[in-house]
Amino acid sequence: MSIRLIPSVLVGCHEEEGEENISANEDLMREHGLLKRVLLSYDEIARRIDAGQDFPPQAVIDGATIIRKFVEDYHEKMEEDYLFPRFRKAGKLVDLVDTLDKQHQAGRRVTDRILATVPSIKTIEDRMRLAADLKAFNRMYEPHEAREDTVLFPALHKIVSRHEYDSLGEQFEKIERQTFGGDGFDIYLDKVSTLEKQLGIYDLAQFTPQ
Ligand SMILES: [Fe+2]
Ligand SMILES: [Fe+2]
Repeated sequence: MSIRLIPSVLVGCHEEEGEENISANEDLMREHGLLKRVLLSYDEIARRIDAGQDFPPQAVIDGATIIRKFVEDYHEKMEEDYLFPRFRKAGKLVDLVDTLDKQHQAGRRVTDRILATVPSIKTIEDRMRLAADLKAFNRMYEPHEAREDTVLFPALHKIVSRHEYDSLGEQFEKIERQTFGGDGFDIYLDKVSTLEKQLGIYDLAQFTPQ
């Protein structure tokens, strides 16, 4: 990602000159974009299993590791620590928050299974079980992240002040740097691009209909 030079007067006194000021929602939504790209890799692996084709087992491990470290242990933890409690305290979208929270837990169980299964895959039944887990993961996360993008995140503006929203964005960036020792998004964007290349789905133009 390129860093644009922005005069510090435009980005506020908390930002150092030269750093982009990423808002809380932009931060969470581009992380969803990264999650979506792993879902596309899971789709490709499941498609190959259904078609009786080979797939590199390492691609499954790499995808599930991105999910574990970037999505579950970081992105979802931010939602659980900084967003969900605010909605519960405000009494807003509580049913949605409960469902999203349960889905995080369910997703972690599926990732545990995927990571445990891959090293010992031998039979067709093993491959079918893996495909079922990859599909179940995608079936849940497609609507999960879409609902957060369109309902939960927009509603954040209604329950926190402008000042609190701005400081949330700053906190998110600070935690990201602490967690990953740098720009976690950039680090994982590289990993997800490598994964797509491994599976032959990196070239975007291939998906344009004739
Ligand atoms: Fe979530
Ligand atoms: Fe999310």
